[in-house]
Amino acid sequence: MKVFVTREIPKPGLDLLRKEFEVEINPYDRILTKKEIIQGLKDKDGLLCLLTDKIDREIIYSEPKLKMIANYAVGYDNIDINAATERGIPVSNTPDVLTDTTAEMAWALLFAVARRIVEGDSFTRSGKFKGWSPMLMLGQDISHKTLGIIGVGRIGTAFALKSKGFNMNILYTSNKNNRILEQEMEAKKVKLEELLKRSDFISIHVPLTTSTYHLIGKRELRMMKKNAILINTARGPVIDEKALIKALKEKWIFGAGLDVYEHEPSISNELKKLDNVVLQPHSASASYETRKKMAIIAAENMIAGLKGEIPPNCINKEVFKKSKKSHKNNKKFQKFFC
Ligand code: GLV
Ligand code: GLV
Repeated sequence: MKVFVTREIPKPGLDLLRKEFEVEINPYDRILTKKEIIQGLKDKDGLLCLLTDKIDREIIYSEPKLKMIANYAVGYDNIDINAATERGIPVSNTPDVLTDTTAEMAWALLFAVARRIVEGDSFTRSGKFKGWSPMLMLGQDISHKTLGIIGVGRIGTAFALKSKGFNMNILYTSNKNNRILEQEMEAKKVKLEELLKRSDFISIHVPLTTSTYHLIGKRELRMMKKNAILINTARGPVIDEKALIKALKEKWIFGAGLDVYEHEPSISNELKKLDNVVLQPHSASASYETRKKMAIIAAENMIAGLKGEIPPNCINKEVFKKSKKSHKNNKKFQKFFC
């Protein structure tokens, strides 16, 4: 069987794939166009893609042989899951291995904004530091503050648990209670509005869906405290970026730490000019260890999927129920007519 990989990923994953399949990899060190993905996918059984590839209905229906899609990411808003399910194609992601890595980036951003690390570094390098000063680079304490977590899945929960050393008060939003956070952190589940009004620091950990698109807009930013810091390591479009820029410019809040952008990879120039925001290049899962593990997991899912097994991290397990049924129907059909 043949697999198309839309961008070179760490070798351990590619090695696993090469043991089982004929593997074709995007030869360029850049994101492929839609046309190039369709071209690469020709005659392939599997597609290993990245969050930067928009795998839409047209791509999914472009290759009749296609029977497995492994996304090299935990988020899968880049794939038209409905179209894949319709075609009976399992789709997998890479959860768990990047949970701590991403939560650590959220903390790195929170510290960077609260203690003005990036600003302080430029200030110091540029020779402006003329000695200790009572009012120089004042920021926010982290310890004993209220931490608001929007979405407490794997990453949001890990982010909250890491606050143990800082004795914080934890609030979270979720459609169900998070027992771990309630038992270990005395965390409280509240409505979004209450979280926004009471939290000193707010970190977003929800996937991008139609219901989380622009979850944080002008109205929500207006509810936040003046000292609030907003962190986003989830997906850009969860925040209305225009409203955030206005809030940062007019100091409705203290600052923001962003790893993701509404119109990624393009970033508004206005955002780049602001001192009270720290910007990262969508690198929350970017550690040597984690990227290697993600590659292995994506490959393992691909292998299982192409063997007709349920991939360990299958997002649309219903394709197996469906295909079993249609398989049975086929058999019945065959018995009846043959
Ligand atoms: C990164 O954003 C991921 O979804 O893995
Ligand atoms: C700071 O350096 C202090 O000693 O207070």
